[in-house]
Amino acid sequence: MTETKKSAQLSLNGETYELPILSPTAGPDVLDIRKLYGQAGVFTYDPGFTSTASCDSTITFIDGDKGELLHRGYPIDQLAEQSHYLEVCYLLLYGELPTASQLEDFETRVTRHTMLHEQMQYFFRGFRRDAHPMATMVGVVGAMSAFYHDSTDIHDPWQREVASIRLIAKMPTIAAWAYKYNLGQPFVYPRNDLDYASNFLHMCFAVPAEEYVVNPILSRAMDRIFTLHADHEQNASTSTVRLASSSGANPFACIAAGIACLWGPAHGGANQACLEMLKEIGSVERIPEFIARAKDKNDPFRLMGFGHRVYKNFDPRATVMKKSADEVLDLLGVENNPILQVAKELEKQALEDPYFAEKKLFPNVDFYSGIILEAMGFPTSMFTPIFALSRTVGWISQWKEQLGDPQMKIGRPRQLYLGSTERDYTDIENR
Ligand code: SDX
Repeated sequence: MTETKKSAQLSLNGETYELPILSPTAGPDVLDIRKLYGQAGVFTYDPGFTSTASCDSTITFIDGDKGELLHRGYPIDQLAEQSHYLEVCYLLLYGELPTASQLEDFETRVTRHTMLHEQMQYFFRGFRRDAHPMATMVGVVGAMSAFYHDSTDIHDPWQREVASIRLIAKMPTIAAWAYKYNLGQPFVYPRNDLDYASNFLHMCFAVPAEEYVVNPILSRAMDRIFTLHADHEQNASTSTVRLASSSGANPFACIAAGIACLWGPAHGGANQACLEMLKEIGSVERIPEFIARAKDKNDPFRLMGFGHRVYKNFDPRATVMKKSADEVLDLLGVENNPILQVAKELEKQALEDPYFAEKKLFPNVDFYSGIILEAMGFPTSMFTPIFALSRTVGWISQWKEQLGDPQMKIGRPRQLYLGSTERDYTDIENR
């Protein structure tokens, strides 16, 4: 954070207060209000944090007007096309692209942490077979606190590093096993001879009865989906992880909290909700009916996969995802997939509709990801677990950054109280 000589003046109740203006390397200036309550005795009010910077960070930057997303300064479209997920993980965690030897060492460390403690299988078996895999992931990731005691001390940099590697390495195993448990199929162990994305596909789709060979085009598409979901500034689930971490909670508890928050349909659950919406629309003839509902103030229905708190232009991830969807569906010979046809026509009609143009509602990352994942054979219930798997590196990078901030203190917002002022208790016979 850079201090500047600029400041803003606030006149209140006959007094004038100086509020320092802090300038970023990119994006809007911020008003430093940390001393406001102490000086002026007033709070600021910003439910939903539409105008509030909760921290400073050097990891990810979004320019919503330009539709720009940078990870440590590198544009997402370049990373998606030229890099791969574990290299992006290294970049997010350590701040720079790795050398060849650094990348080899990092990939080896991740590969050697993909197995779960054998006893953790009992957690999966405690759930109903039809448990949503997100419920299983919240439970199992939280339970890692009970198994990996040697990486829960947040004050030990080495334990923070081990916890980071364990979480990135084990999330694919946890997500795949949650899926296998739903299917009633045996768990497939990770394999060290497969790359990260291929290993995940193998754990999801292989069965002991026959060999499963991962299609390299599908593993490349899977890896790109991981990269596109890796981090995204202070979104709801990342803010949840930061708030949980500010109390000193262990990394597994913090990531479990992030998974729980991501599950909501307004956030990471939108990819599942979007595909269910496309299936409900069913045909291009019914699109006008649903667009009318999305515009109707009296109808709570919203077009899932559209709109974003920050992007008031195209979500750059959706642009890459749309290209990937065409490649995957073409490979699978389902380019005439009726759901994709509905999606493309819905996008076209929505973007031509003044309502969506005026409100700057564009397709977001969730709009096309579900179409790819369904074409790859995943049920909709696995869409958000895959988002959670991908975002773990973002949550962990932000968690590490916050723990490294000497100014870090427990997050404790105030409120605008509108309840009863003090009143005396009355006995029940007098009520
Ligand atoms: C993710 O924060 C992140 O970075 C999240 C994420 C990440 O990588 O972490 O990018 C991942 O969560 C993507 C968003 C996925 N969610 C959806 O696709 C669900 C559908 N979208 C919306 O629910 C909504 O757009 C949000 C939640 C994404 C953003 O909501 P905001 O910023 O709070 O905006 P809003 O609800 O105040 O809407 C502004 C206006 C409203 O109309 P008015 O009251 O001003 O008349 O736009 C309308 C809304 O009714 N609107 C929509 C709409 N989204 C907003 N109308 C129809 N369909 C929609 N999808």
